[in-house]
Amino acid sequence: MTKDLRVGVAGLGTVGASLVRLIERKSNALTARCGRPVRVSAVSARDRTRDRGVDLSGMAWFDDPVALATSADVDVYVELIGGEDGPAEASVRAALAAGKPVVTANKALLARHGVELAALAEANGTALFYEAAVAGGIPVIKTMREALAGNEISRVYGILNGTCNYILTRMEQEGLDFSDCLADAQRLGYAEADPTFDIEGFDTAHKLAILTSLAFGSRIDSEAIYCEGISSITQADIEAAGELGYRIKLLGVAQRTDSGIEQRVHPTMVPKTSAIARIDGVLNAVAIDGDAVGEVVLVGPGAGGDATASAVLGDIADVARGHAIPTLGMPADTLAPYEAARMRRHEGGYYIRLSVYDRSGAFAEIARIMADEDISLESIVQRDRSRAGDLSEPHSDAPQPVILTTYETTEAAVKRALATIMARNVVAGDPQMIRIEKLR
Ligand code: HSE
Repeated sequence: MTKDLRVGVAGLGTVGASLVRLIERKSNALTARCGRPVRVSAVSARDRTRDRGVDLSGMAWFDDPVALATSADVDVYVELIGGEDGPAEASVRAALAAGKPVVTANKALLARHGVELAALAEANGTALFYEAAVAGGIPVIKTMREALAGNEISRVYGILNGTCNYILTRMEQEGLDFSDCLADAQRLGYAEADPTFDIEGFDTAHKLAILTSLAFGSRIDSEAIYCEGISSITQADIEAAGELGYRIKLLGVAQRTDSGIEQRVHPTMVPKTSAIARIDGVLNAVAIDGDAVGEVVLVGPGAGGDATASAVLGDIADVARGHAIPTLGMPADTLAPYEAARMRRHEGGYYIRLSVYDRSGAFAEIARIMADEDISLESIVQRDRSRAGDLSEPHSDAPQPVILTTYETTEAAVKRALATIMARNVVAGDPQMIRIEKLR
């Protein structure tokens, strides 16, 4: 039998500890499937004394992840430290420069330095694997990089953040507060070390940037992503969405348009009947439109220790079998420059919630401003304040919640119309605007 694959793991947080346990638990199956034993030979973490519920005896300890990454006693370096620079970046670069294969779950690192790291891996005759970086346990990188190699992809979109999907699902199904749901997501090990990465959409944007490159053979450009998180979503929006036949999901969408590639992350109203609307809790889903295959939808757990460790271990198995695939599906120097479509040119339907002063002519004025921008309204509904817990006099001039939905229009027209409405003193507070995506 070929010699053992010696795995060095840096970072023993939720995923790292799960990985160490999983490799131990799957030892026999891994040997059978890879044709050689796979074992963790060395680890590195910040605090040696912390009890992680894993047996680290028999594993060498390194305080410095760069030393672990370049150790002659490690065959594959697994980076689970996180962060787009610092020790994660330094250790991954060091391993690749030493010709050692790397497995990482670090989406921020890939989104920022992916093309450079791909080139570094190629220059040193080694490989960089990152299945766990996107959509947790879902094998979407393998699917896009390998299985769909025979397709031109026109669009990839999905629910790419387990924490946000968990929060939105519980807010909708249990009427809970945003902050309580977030605390539970943190307790369950779904959220990032800094949860603003989850709830402000940055984590989704990092993942989308990687998928965009795989879909379109372009260089990664995470800076070009339009990004809005879920922190402004209220129970009023969730309820209104339900009544209009939608559910609210944080989507990442990348698609080819006539003016370039559109990459956007934002809360989205999706039809209740669509496949994506039924993805609840920590589940993620990725839909890929290929010209030969049609639409492929992958669903699975997007976060959590074991689910993410499962994806990391799949990559380690590839290394054990001697597989090497270009990091971004094609040689790094052949990736096309990224051509961004401007968000102002995005076309779609919009949901708008306004607090309108109860004065005669206010509705008419709003409708006129929309018409001036050539925006066709699909519906306009004045909500009953008492249902939102507001029991003040129905005919006082306190603002009334009003919900508008539009037919397809442009982002620029909606933004201009809202700016004009704000300037006319007919509404109180900031408007809420959520994009509507027509999905099957
Ligand atoms: N914080 C991430 C999520 C973990 O909630 O999806 C997986 O990347």
